[in-house]
Amino acid sequence: MIDLQRLPKAELHLHIEGTFEPELIFALSERNGVPLPYPDVQSLRDAYQFSDLQSFLDLYYAAMGVLRTERDFYELTSAYAQRAVTQGVRHAEIFFDPQAHLQRGIAFETVVDGITAALDDARRRTGLTSHLIMCFLRDLPAQAAFETLERAKTRRDRILAVGLDSAEVGNPPSKFATVFEQARAQGYLTVAHAGEEGPPEYIWQALDLLKVSRIDHGVRCLEDEKLVQRLRRQRTPLTVCPFSNVRLRVVDTLAHHPLKRMLDAGLVATVNSDDPAYFGGYIGDNFQGVAADLHLTDDDIVTLARNSFEGAFIDDMTRSRFLAEIEALHV
Ligand code: HPA
Ligand code: ZN
Repeated sequence: MIDLQRLPKAELHLHIEGTFEPELIFALSERNGVPLPYPDVQSLRDAYQFSDLQSFLDLYYAAMGVLRTERDFYELTSAYAQRAVTQGVRHAEIFFDPQAHLQRGIAFETVVDGITAALDDARRRTGLTSHLIMCFLRDLPAQAAFETLERAKTRRDRILAVGLDSAEVGNPPSKFATVFEQARAQGYLTVAHAGEEGPPEYIWQALDLLKVSRIDHGVRCLEDEKLVQRLRRQRTPLTVCPFSNVRLRVVDTLAHHPLKRMLDAGLVATVNSDDPAYFGGYIGDNFQGVAADLHLTDDDIVTLARNSFEGAFIDDMTRSRFLAEIEALHV
């Protein structure tokens, strides 16, 4: 029996603003004098009943309104790093949404400096390694993404990749082809959310127009056999988020989640937590949920852990070290 919490894993799909637990939201609301439209922690938690991606995003953006100072971003990120390490995360590639903060008058540097100070401390204390991925909000104009790319120049060395998130349907990857091209020219790697609520066509566009190294979510690829063949042949990692898909009604129950079918189709699927404070658990909890409800075998579990390091932006020596640790557990 594999210990799913301790199993070494990389987390590749995690929005730092989605790790904002209700207790910390309230503490920062008070400290910063930014009121919330909820009287207490319990009533905020009670509002976590989502009907789709947009209903979640409305609450997600409202809650992050209480994040104001570098210290706030430091505390948010430290709390995540601690939780992640207890659930077996050895390496994390973390999304953040700079536009959601810039729009509120928070400087780009305040956000990045708070997050990176916490990640630097976490690495010293626990060995957790990490990268930052800056996401563009796809429901804003492409021009706003260009401006964000420009703003990021003061912290270029702290950001490894750009991504694409927020409301997917009606905002195809093609809208961001030019800004992603510029980002690649500046040396950024690229990823994109695609095929969560949007159609397989958005996954094709992410591959062909944005030249992504990974697809975030991608569960709807199964509707297109040619696309499945392409993803399998290229070994494109898919950062699947099971609890998220259930909470946002992309799938009806965990028992019906397509993860097992994706593995059986030979896709490089990984398990991730997306916005764990909102969706009922962190990455180890997601592993436990799918292992039970999809009756995953030990081989499936080991494949998922291996895939997470195969998909990570780490060098081959580091990758081999992590893979050897997994093999040592699986005798
Ligand atoms: N999908 C799209 N945008 C997001 C998500 C998600 O699951 N979480 C935070 N921003
Ligand atoms: Zn996401």
